[in-house]
Amino acid sequence: MEKQFKRTLITTALPYANGPVHIGHLAGVYVPADIYARYLRLKGEEVILIGGSDEHGVPIALKAKAEGITPQEVVDRYHSIIKKSFEDFGITFDIYSRTTSEMHHQTASDFFRTLYEKGEFIEKTSEQYYDEEAKQFLADRYITGTCPHCGNERAYGDQCEACGTSLSAMDLIDPKSAITGSIPVKKETKHWYLPLDKHEPFLREWILEGHKEWKSNVYGQCKSWLDMGLQPRAVSRDLDWGIPVPVEGAEGKVLYVWFDAPIGYISNTKELLPDTWEKWWKDPETKMIHFIGKDNIVFHCIVFPSMLKAEGSYNLPENVPANEFLNLEGDKISTSRNWAVWLNEYLEDLPGKQDVLRYVLTANAPETKDNDFTWKDFQARNNNELVAILGNFVNRAMVLTQKYFDGKVPACGELTEYDKQTLADFAHVKSAVERLLDTFHFREAQKEAMNLARIGNKYLADTEPWKLAKTDRNRVATILNISLQITANLAIVFEPFLPFSMKKLLAMLNVENFGWNRLGATDLLEAGHSLNTPELLFEKIEDSVINAQVQKLLDTKKANEEANYKANPIRETITFDDFTKLDIRVGTVLECTKVPKADKLLQFKIDDGLGATRTIVSGIAQHYSPEELVGKQICFIANLAPRKLKGIVSEGMILSAENFDGKLAVVMPEKAVKPGSEVK
Ligand code: 2FM
Ligand code: ZN
Repeated sequence: MEKQFKRTLITTALPYANGPVHIGHLAGVYVPADIYARYLRLKGEEVILIGGSDEHGVPIALKAKAEGITPQEVVDRYHSIIKKSFEDFGITFDIYSRTTSEMHHQTASDFFRTLYEKGEFIEKTSEQYYDEEAKQFLADRYITGTCPHCGNERAYGDQCEACGTSLSAMDLIDPKSAITGSIPVKKETKHWYLPLDKHEPFLREWILEGHKEWKSNVYGQCKSWLDMGLQPRAVSRDLDWGIPVPVEGAEGKVLYVWFDAPIGYISNTKELLPDTWEKWWKDPETKMIHFIGKDNIVFHCIVFPSMLKAEGSYNLPENVPANEFLNLEGDKISTSRNWAVWLNEYLEDLPGKQDVLRYVLTANAPETKDNDFTWKDFQARNNNELVAILGNFVNRAMVLTQKYFDGKVPACGELTEYDKQTLADFAHVKSAVERLLDTFHFREAQKEAMNLARIGNKYLADTEPWKLAKTDRNRVATILNISLQITANLAIVFEPFLPFSMKKLLAMLNVENFGWNRLGATDLLEAGHSLNTPELLFEKIEDSVINAQVQKLLDTKKANEEANYKANPIRETITFDDFTKLDIRVGTVLECTKVPKADKLLQFKIDDGLGATRTIVSGIAQHYSPEELVGKQICFIANLAPRKLKGIVSEGMILSAENFDGKLAVVMPEKAVKPGSEVK
């Protein structure tokens, strides 16, 4: 028996307020959440859509330092930009608040204290670097020093970007604070941990047994986390930006941003509904749905539910329909490389075209895998679908009615077999779209809605009422009546997807609202009802507009390449003799395994064609799984002095190329060659 619920609480991931929002945010989280909320509201259900900005965390503190302003100034700036973008795109939040609000600080603080008093945390002390000048502990990225493996003097406390080795801040030679440049000292610090291991049996049962219906990408990620075994997670940090840990002896410590952020959903509900918020969070007849991107799955399916469970009085989410990522023109969207279509800029360049973007992002939504946004596809979907199918049909039905019936809905006469077939064809749209929306298949649902416009177009093309105007006025009346009923149905079914255009369409139809439940009806407009003057719902987008957007991205690419060259200039010229000192060979990977307790290292056994099996340790574990490379031919430096990495003697170095986004690709010969062959 499926569970029955009385109301739905929809939450959307709180975006970090350290930059504007882009199409990836919209596609992954906010458009689907808004479609879902609008759909439920149209059905007359009780629903709230909760959003807000995530305003704590290290990156915001770092950005403020870099700009010489306060973190509060950073988040004030971006919170208003983000909030406005969401309003502009018609995301119907019931509240869009922020985690620096008084209500949130209080709520998150109380939540922590409740768990603390219930004994739900464990306390652990560890040694960390401390900057005595800045009087603060240093997060890994705040420490630089010399890499113990390759001698790079600008390695970070978590990684050396020159040799790719994963580091701990304690491994660095000559560590320096990135804040003051002073030498940090080791100091003991205490933190509070949520013992996720303790909640593991419950989580296994609740997710793996109880929620097999979750999307396979979500279920799969949860399963793999659970199968690896959960560890206690620190929920506090040594930082001066955030919500102070509300217990004695915690001076200078704040709640970890991922502890306070999801509590923001609760705080914002409280701010919206101070008297009735509890029914939204604690009544088992409320269904909670979290809309998020794939990088947030563990926090929403494992960490936050463990917090709610530990507290004891809250509901757990019923579903977490996380999306994968949207790429842009074949490359990962990146804020630091400015590789994005920013929502505020989109509206400056393409004013009034919110629905076009909503449509394209839903048509291409990364629901089951990463997807690509291209401007060519954007143009094609606008011109060939919104204009040629939906807009064209609506316009023909409206204009013909103006022309032959003075803008009044004509009466429907006797139906032909073909009319009946057409009506039957769209009778199922309601159940089909509902089934898809109820199960979070937004792109399929939108496709189904577009099919209704296709049915309408075909009907007009087949019946050709314009040819009958002089000979059979009654027949024309019937055809237009049916076409207008289809138009009215389109106004209902597209409202969640294209709210701006459907508002316009309702105004053209001279109707306030039909309500979702009448979807599929063939008597939505009465004979004699006056329509308003038709306007075009969508316009063709010309090549020049698209080319300008593509050019903008090309300019960004060029600027990035120039910056990359500046940061990584071609090194000093060497002689041929210098070059020949490097002995580069091809080898075949015989075995490849993960190095225990080193998340970046893989250990290789290589057939080097020189009568030996070599061991090479390489920092590429985050880019390849071990199985991927077994049997492959790789290039390696054969005469590099052996060195020890995590206790293993590495006899050489595997060559790889680093992409702009830091992704590594191993260098391989274009055809198979004999192991031991020289690369020259
Ligand atoms: O990944 C992010 O952008 C986070 N700021 C999302 C937080 S979601 C929730 F927990 F608030
Ligand atoms: Zn290094």
